[in-house]
Amino acid sequence: MSTEKAVNGNGKCKSGKILVIGSLNVDMVVDVDHTPVVGETIISTDMDMIPGGKGANQACAAGYLGTDVSMLGAVGDDSYARLQFMSLDKAGVDTSRIIVKKDEKTGVAFITVNRDGDNCIVVVSGANATLSPQDIDVHLDILDRCDMVLLQMEIPMETVCHAARMAKMKGKTVILDPAPAPASFPEELYEYVDVIKPNRTETAMLTGIDCRTEEGLRKAANCLRTRGIREVLVTLGSEGVYIDSATCGISHIPARRVQALDTTAAGDSFTAALAFMLVQGKNILEAAEFANTVSAIVVTRKGAQTSMPVLDEVYAYM
Ligand code: RIB
Repeated sequence: MSTEKAVNGNGKCKSGKILVIGSLNVDMVVDVDHTPVVGETIISTDMDMIPGGKGANQACAAGYLGTDVSMLGAVGDDSYARLQFMSLDKAGVDTSRIIVKKDEKTGVAFITVNRDGDNCIVVVSGANATLSPQDIDVHLDILDRCDMVLLQMEIPMETVCHAARMAKMKGKTVILDPAPAPASFPEELYEYVDVIKPNRTETAMLTGIDCRTEEGLRKAANCLRTRGIREVLVTLGSEGVYIDSATCGISHIPARRVQALDTTAAGDSFTAALAFMLVQGKNILEAAEFANTVSAIVVTRKGAQTSMPVLDEVYAYM
């Protein structure tokens, strides 16, 4: 499926299959009153162990929405991996492409969530860091069978590039969530990406343009467009999403007003919901409106994969 076909909204595309290639973590989530500063010790009253990882969160969100979705990534042979399998199985995700690496540990993320719902995350990559281009090649048959590939940046950059290159060669739509933003972003990758969804900080890092003003944001999104990406969506948290689209032009969709409890996985759920709509042939604006609603629900709930809504919940909210 080409991007044009996927996003033109002419209703010709049937619902397709999504492949998520990326990270799987177990999140150690610590509630804090405020985010500690350097040298500060604070006391927390609660800690939870919740399945997460940007890739697995996207797969989980897509699964709960009812998409045909497979997850390709790497875990260790440990109890954290079993937690992840249970969570993705529950969401209806095809987990048969998750590689269990005997000598590695499953990725872990340490997350503080403050009273405003804002988080700070430190990831210990573990098995995620070993997902190689060769691992992708072993699973090329699943790439053949999908319509859309979702990628993020918690696996090695060479693997992201290879996966995107192979996906493009096979005519798939590639959606990139460039999180966490890498120190250097290979120019080659822009060639393979159809849709990019950075947040404001990531957009500034990718373009070198200060995105704190509307003008800066406009320039930076346009800069990503001129690098060859057809659909640029910059998520702005409580300010919604800014879109520079080859198919729908420029727009700014405001966020839904909600009381945020925990913003973890808001971006992951947005990307998955966007893909869910695009793979059905909806246009980028319809997809972004829907994704906005999904991430609004997610921030009202605690944790990553524990927050993902099913489709009926999203429609009830719209
Ligand atoms: O985007 C949120 C995710 O980032 C968390 O689930 C954590 O595992 C890190 O990957």
